[in-house]
Amino acid sequence: MAKTIFTCTECAGTSPRWLGKCPACGAWNTLIEAQADAGPGRNRYAAPRFSGLAQGQAVMPLSAIKASEVQRSPSGIGELDRVLGGGIVAGGVVLIGGDPGIGKSTLLLQALDALQRANLPTLYVTGEESGAQVALRSRRLGLEHSQVNVLAEIQLEKILSAVDSMRPTVAVIDSIQTVYSEQLTSAPGSVAQVRECAAHLTRAAKALGVAIVLVGHVTKEGALAGPRVLEHMVDTVLYFEGDTHSPFRLVRAVKNRFGAVNEIGVFAMTEKGLKGVSNPSAIFLSQHSEPVAGSCVLVTLEGTRPLLVEIQALVDSGGPSPRRLSVGLDRDRLAMLLAVLHRHAGVACMDQDVFVNAVGGVRISEPAADLAVLLSITSSLRGKALPRGFLAFGEVGLAGEVRPAPRGQERLKEAAKLGFCTAVVPRANAPKKPVPGLSIHAVERVEEALDVVRGLG
Ligand code: TYD
Ligand code: MG
Repeated sequence: MAKTIFTCTECAGTSPRWLGKCPACGAWNTLIEAQADAGPGRNRYAAPRFSGLAQGQAVMPLSAIKASEVQRSPSGIGELDRVLGGGIVAGGVVLIGGDPGIGKSTLLLQALDALQRANLPTLYVTGEESGAQVALRSRRLGLEHSQVNVLAEIQLEKILSAVDSMRPTVAVIDSIQTVYSEQLTSAPGSVAQVRECAAHLTRAAKALGVAIVLVGHVTKEGALAGPRVLEHMVDTVLYFEGDTHSPFRLVRAVKNRFGAVNEIGVFAMTEKGLKGVSNPSAIFLSQHSEPVAGSCVLVTLEGTRPLLVEIQALVDSGGPSPRRLSVGLDRDRLAMLLAVLHRHAGVACMDQDVFVNAVGGVRISEPAADLAVLLSITSSLRGKALPRGFLAFGEVGLAGEVRPAPRGQERLKEAAKLGFCTAVVPRANAPKKPVPGLSIHAVERVEEALDVVRGLG
């Protein structure tokens, strides 16, 4: 059995026993259990889990190395292939995270079944549910004749030997937090276990050319539970987003060594599992029969497709320390926008609670949402709805300027297609040719945008 040591997650310093404070850098609570390589000549930079990658390759100029195209197997689920960049890559490791119950196991079982039907061998390792539970789910999905191989196992060494002997095209580990290695004494699910097991599985994927999909839980804060370091180890990181109360789910690529990031796949949860939504632009709009105060629609561009998303704000008189809360949008950015609104447009929310929400559980990270957030806040503050068919987008800077969003023309076209008729956009995004059906107001400053809205009545 390999010797156990403790390494610091901050400085990579080591200690033979656990300490509260790292002896090398002085950071607290950063030492985690790892395996020491007992082999001779080991230096501190050669972490044992990378030894499999370092197989004494010759140094050669970049131009002399043959660039080989990666080999992809389309999963047969169009929206999933879109986020993966065309399909699952042989030897690639995908980490897929999301809240419990959002549909990770469902989607992966559907994908494995599609692969298996294309005669590609697959393996589904379940650590959270028993084989019987997986079978029950497969009946619900209409996959009762599925030939997907299922292994109910949580011990790393046994999983590795099954992968090695079976050599599937794709193996799913559901979930990485349940896997444990006997080599470590820490509990399954601990940072040390998750990190070490993921490292072993990654190495096996590369060595055997098997694509491995790791399912990971997400903490309340929205990060993949345990080690962020998992995200660095794997080739692709996908996150499931969406409100479990609504049927729609987004799968977003936040890292992809084999494709574009921020590409999204859109699914709807149905009675028979997840179904791809190929034309998703209008699914994040709530259907108000009359325009309501505090609501503004924005066109966001996620990956290659424009999406219309409704931003809702509620401004209400608060106590001595008013609250600023945001769901689906960055809270620090909200504080910044409120400061810009005050300084440059003279609209004060100092004594007000401000809540903002992106409808449908979608997360918006692009700054082009700024203008819609500001307009929904002022609309709620004044108790005055924006006109029917109104939308806005544009980044707002600290000096009160409205900056252009990438590919404005495409956003406007999509909005016009869905029947929107009035848009407030950054000056640089105003198209040269008019967009049929859309009256466009180009603005350069926040004050100007508020004036335009006031003028619309
Ligand atoms: P699941 O895939 O188990 O989520 P995760 O693995 O991310 O925890 O999804 C379970 C949820 O999906 C559960 O609340 C029921 C729902 N569901 C359906 O609505 N339709 C279906 O066909 C299936 C299989 C699940
Ligand atoms: Mg699950």
